Amino acid sequence: MNNTIIQAHLFGKDSSAFWTGHDWNMAAEAGMKSVNLPYSGEYAFVATEMYWPINHMVAPVEQSLECAACHSRDGRLVNLGGIYLSGRDRSGLLDSLGFILILLSFSGVTIHALIRILKKSD
Ligand code: HEC
Repeated sequence: MNNTIIQAHLFGKDSSAFWTGHDWNMAAEAGMKSVNLPYSGEYAFVATEMYWPINHMVAPVEQSLECAACHSRDGRLVNLGGIYLSGRDRSGLLDSLGFILILLSFSGVTIHALIRILKKSD
């Protein structure tokens, strides 16, 4: 007997998808057809064991990355293109505009406070 691992068609709106039609035979037939492999029409299940850590693959805190591992000019994502990564990339124009905005806000608040102090009448 020649045993093969079956490629089952699991998800989809068609009834041959296992989670729609709930028919292993149809799912096996459609799945094997999709990968161009022969299917005898017979299938069986084998018992398997699987061990999964219960930490969702999250590393312990001592092994976790610091923010600057990526958010820095010489970090691990230094060669990753197509994204703007704060701490690694910068726009001189935006930085200047932001700085001017902070100065203007501070001046506005200061002038407003001065006027209120000078016009104070009690
Ligand atoms: C493994 C790499 C990595 C690490 C570590 C990391 N980041 Fe990021 N961070 C990214 C990437 C990639 C983006 C998305 C950049 C994009 O899509 O424009 C991002 C985006 C961000 C943004 C959004 C920036 C924006 O412009 O919208 C913030 C805020 C941020 N990270 C903060 C942090 C902080 C705080 C830490 C540490 C606690 C941290 N990141 C750790 C890779 C990382």
